[in-house]
Amino acid sequence: MTTPVIELCGVSRGYDGGPPALDDVSLTVRAGEAVAILGPSGSGKSTLLNLIAGLDRPDAGTVTVAGVRVDTLGEAASARFRRATIGMVFQFFNLLDDLTALDNVALPARMAGESRRAAHRRATELLRSLGVDRHADAYPGRLSGGERQRVAVARALINRPALLLADEPTGALDTAAGEAVRDLLTGLNTAGQTVVLVTHDLALARSCTTRTVRLVDGRVAAEGHTAPEAGHTALAEGPVAEGTR
Ligand SMILES: Nc1ncnc2c1ncn2[C@@H]1O[C@H](COP(=O)(O)OP(=O)(O)OP(=O)(O)O)[C@@H](O)[C@H]1O
Ligand SMILES: [Mg+2]
Repeated sequence: MTTPVIELCGVSRGYDGGPPALDDVSLTVRAGEAVAILGPSGSGKSTLLNLIAGLDRPDAGTVTVAGVRVDTLGEAASARFRRATIGMVFQFFNLLDDLTALDNVALPARMAGESRRAAHRRATELLRSLGVDRHADAYPGRLSGGERQRVAVARALINRPALLLADEPTGALDTAAGEAVRDLLTGLNTAGQTVVLVTHDLALARSCTTRTVRLVDGRVAAEGHTAPEAGHTALAEGPVAEGTR
């Protein structure tokens, strides 16, 4: 078995006054795996990704990513770790409004010390592979939701992260643009990229992940696999049996 890239043990996270957004979640993701996180709105999917990225801390439990306890890192160390190890596509994009699409994509590479020229070259390639290179010089405010989403995907990939976290990366996309993102993610996973993908899109889960985890009310309600078989893919899922994990 390959080493775990992500290991969550007994993770809980609550917000003031409400029921827990995550309740005793344990999850292991190994190098090269692509896992889809499914579940209804409000079930804790984005909360889970934020904890894995070290953008938020659990109230209980431990979060280990690439051997590092991200739940105990200070802010600066956490930002450094994220920059080196994690690419994140946020549900609401989080692009910087006063940078062009190209500069948004290039920024993580520049912060990691790459030259402007090299960062721009790779940013341009990524924008091209996602079909948005003609918008390289546009500011996010002038882009459609789907264009912004693809720019956000490009930005997440620029530092060739060991771990890609993507929160609804096709949520704002029509079929053609969704396919560009899907092809890119499928290609990445074939090349050994570890991916955790939050999605409502079962076709996306089938085509670019091998395993599913379903959250309901902050708990892991079912786990399954997406099995490619002779020209079609099935989505098989079973309830989580107590004591078997
Ligand atoms: N910053 C916050 N403050 C208070 N409550 C929050 C906060 N973020 C999330 N929650 C609550 O935690 C629960 C889980 O939210 P989360 O965003 O993780 O859900 P989700 O599964 O990503 O939903 P969606 O599919 O709609 O994106 C929800 O009940 C939500 O209202
Ligand atoms: Mg969400």
